[in-house]
Amino acid sequence: MSWKPNDSFAPVARLRRTLAFRLTAAYAIAGLVLIFLATASLYLLTVTEMERSTRLFIADKLNVLRTMLRERPNDREALQEEIELESAARQYEQFYICLLDERNQPLLMTPGMSERLDLEQLTKQTGIHLGRTIRMTGSHGRAFRVTSATAPVGSPPTQTDTIQVAVDVSQQEQFLQRYRLWFVSILLGTFVALPLIGYQIARRGIRPVEDMAATARRISSTNLRERILPDGYPFELASLAGTFNQMLDRLEDSFDRISRFSADIAHDLRTPVNNIRGEAEVGLARARTITEYREVLESCLEEAVRLSDLIGNLLFLARAESPLAHLRRESVNIVELLDGMREYYEASAAEAGVSLTTSANRAPVIAHLDRTLVQRAVSNLVSNAVAHTPPGGSVVLAASSEDSAVHIEVSDTGAGIPSEALPKVFDRFFRLDSSRSQASGGTGLGLAIVQSIMLLHGGKVEIASQLGQGTRVTLHVPIAEQGRAAPVPNHHMTRT
Ligand SMILES: Nc1ncnc2c1ncn2[C@@H]1O[C@H](COP(=O)(O)OP(=O)(O)O)[C@@H](O)[C@H]1O
Ligand SMILES: [Mg+2]
Repeated sequence: MSWKPNDSFAPVARLRRTLAFRLTAAYAIAGLVLIFLATASLYLLTVTEMERSTRLFIADKLNVLRTMLRERPNDREALQEEIELESAARQYEQFYICLLDERNQPLLMTPGMSERLDLEQLTKQTGIHLGRTIRMTGSHGRAFRVTSATAPVGSPPTQTDTIQVAVDVSQQEQFLQRYRLWFVSILLGTFVALPLIGYQIARRGIRPVEDMAATARRISSTNLRERILPDGYPFELASLAGTFNQMLDRLEDSFDRISRFSADIAHDLRTPVNNIRGEAEVGLARARTITEYREVLESCLEEAVRLSDLIGNLLFLARAESPLAHLRRESVNIVELLDGMREYYEASAAEAGVSLTTSANRAPVIAHLDRTLVQRAVSNLVSNAVAHTPPGGSVVLAASSEDSAVHIEVSDTGAGIPSEALPKVFDRFFRLDSSRSQASGGTGLGLAIVQSIMLLHGGKVEIASQLGQGTRVTLHVPIAEQGRAAPVPNHHMTRT
């Protein structure tokens, strides 16, 4: 759509690139060629048919006369009758017959023939043979087809006469002329009409595409509700419109998430910052004892740690999404990794009255993965499980492997998650208790981080839960090929 000053042919060039133009040109050329071929071949057929029927007619006439001359050479009256009478009965395609003796002197002739045709010229044409005709112009511009044939007189022949037949074909020629006129007018008419009709058809055909383009132009981040209504669209375009609408659905969804995400970030950052500010203001309001200052600093530190954790987590998620994110894969025995996890969380689990165990199956499960990241994922799962399991419950860590993947499972007998919330638990900042109470501690980023770690490994995470019964989260990590085992770590994810 840009308009450069020096491309004065731009509109033409642009028109030539439009689909409507191309379709129209193709219709018009194809239509013209077809109409030309059809009309021309009909014309040729008519011409040959007319000539053929004239030729046959002449041959017929000649045959009759030659038979008469051969078999009844002396019956001049019958011959005369044959030559004169039938011609008189015809109004169109008048024919004239002339019988010449051996010295080319006329013996008999259809009455009126000498007024219509230049006989001297006709006599010169005795050379043409039966089966061929030539065209001659007679008086008043009338056109004739002429042929001649030798006719042996008597049997055995005593002499050889010549019969000349001329058929008036002016009528035929006038007809053909009208035909040619029609032919040219029809071609001219179609030459004008076809592009116009073709253009209308093409425009109508691609109107849905233009509608789609217009919709696409109207869409912006604040206006993602627009959809194309594919009613009445042809099938192909309806499916294109459907695909387009689905793309908009996904975009709208992503935009929603992003804007919710930013709102959540703002909210979650504000809380600890406000707390720090409040503590500091209260602390500074009047003179304090050392112990009081200490308390203020301690609670400020606590908030600062919260804040720094939150920022660290956000940074982690942002980096994990970057295409530059790399893994430091190494061989890890998952069973040992889970043992380490259990030891790490043993104390806090015991404090919460929850039993934390690894599964009885001790066979090593070896996988090629980024140890730090998988530790972080499992740690998020275990802390969730312990946090949501009431005293007396249990949390079990298990690992298993098959040909293509290893599975890590963290299951608990805790509170569970209502099924309508299950699809959302991996969303950033999603927490079940929407009150966002500080008590629960989490920021709602834990499972989002687990998911992005799995995606980095080319794996996936599954969650199954029964409200009041417990929750089971399973990590599926595909066993990576050795070739991709140790990429250059130019953007390594570090623990925050
Ligand atoms: N094992 C579990 N049992 C019950 N609910 C869980 C469990 N794990 C996660 N949840 C729910 O999913 C939400 C999101 O978890 P997560 O992303 O780790 O955020 P956070 O732990 O910071 O709240 C939690 O708020 C909790 O409501
Ligand atoms: Mg959590």
